[in-house]
Amino acid sequence: MSREYMSYKGMCFSPLYTSAELLTFVENGFQVRDDDIFNVTYPKSGTIWMIEILSLICSGGDPHWSRTVPNWERMPWLESFNAQETLQVVSEKPRLITSHLPVHLFPKSKAKSKAKVIYTVRNPKDALVSLYHFSRATVYWKDPGSFEQLLQDFLTGDVPYGSWFDHVRGWTAVKDQTPFLLVTYEELLKDLRGSVVRICDFLGRELDAAALDSVVENATFKTMKDNKMANYSLISEDLIDLKKSPFIRKGISGDWKNHFTLEQSELFDRVYQERMRNLNVKLSWD
Ligand code: A3P
Repeated sequence: MSREYMSYKGMCFSPLYTSAELLTFVENGFQVRDDDIFNVTYPKSGTIWMIEILSLICSGGDPHWSRTVPNWERMPWLESFNAQETLQVVSEKPRLITSHLPVHLFPKSKAKSKAKVIYTVRNPKDALVSLYHFSRATVYWKDPGSFEQLLQDFLTGDVPYGSWFDHVRGWTAVKDQTPFLLVTYEELLKDLRGSVVRICDFLGRELDAAALDSVVENATFKTMKDNKMANYSLISEDLIDLKKSPFIRKGISGDWKNHFTLEQSELFDRVYQERMRNLNVKLSWD
């Protein structure tokens, strides 16, 4: 299967996953509803973890939904081929929608709605490492070649969904114009229960202690790794070969130290300082 990319508005995407026509529709034609909840991330930043957390919160802590329905149906990726059909027939209220899109390609109708955005961000060095392993396993990404090559592409934004730096700058810039919650992967790791409470507050949902316990228990690394509705074992090996790298791989922070040379880390830090200067939020690994 071809692993080439197509270009849309200067950004590359996998044609196996989306098209220029679909991206144009998403931006200009997709109708956001006031009660939609968006899970937005740059790839490999904790997307499927947040899907699990939100599915469980919206089910009042009952794990039945997350144990019986694959995550891509529970919270479809807005810009993917199969999402539009699922989103039209979705009967749950609110609709739960995932997206990796940068803010400038997001549905224009979002601006006039009260829809909520949860934006999860992760130390980009760890996101890059996770991406390196994932891109070796899936046809949706080009073979990364060497880690050094992927690092260069990541720093210049020559990867699907573009530059991490632009993505984070773009989304955090609109944080006060829309119902918006910033969550970091690292805080989920450090205090999952506290983060779940914070997310519940943002969504205006009250869960009792038992329901909270259940959300936390069913969103742990171990539970998700064993849940075939979350671990991608239902997907054809031709699309994601989990033998090359499991989707739910290590689930830690700081794995970048096992992959970056000192020079690579220093280069990354220099670009980071330059590109993230005067960011309007404080990120926890700064
Ligand atoms: P690693 O490859 O570093 O292990 P995304 O869902 O955005 O593609 O991100 C995938 C990353 O999130 C992977 O990181 C995966 O292991 C991690 N992840 C998924 N569920 C997790 C959980 N419950 N706890 C910790 N990390 C999790």
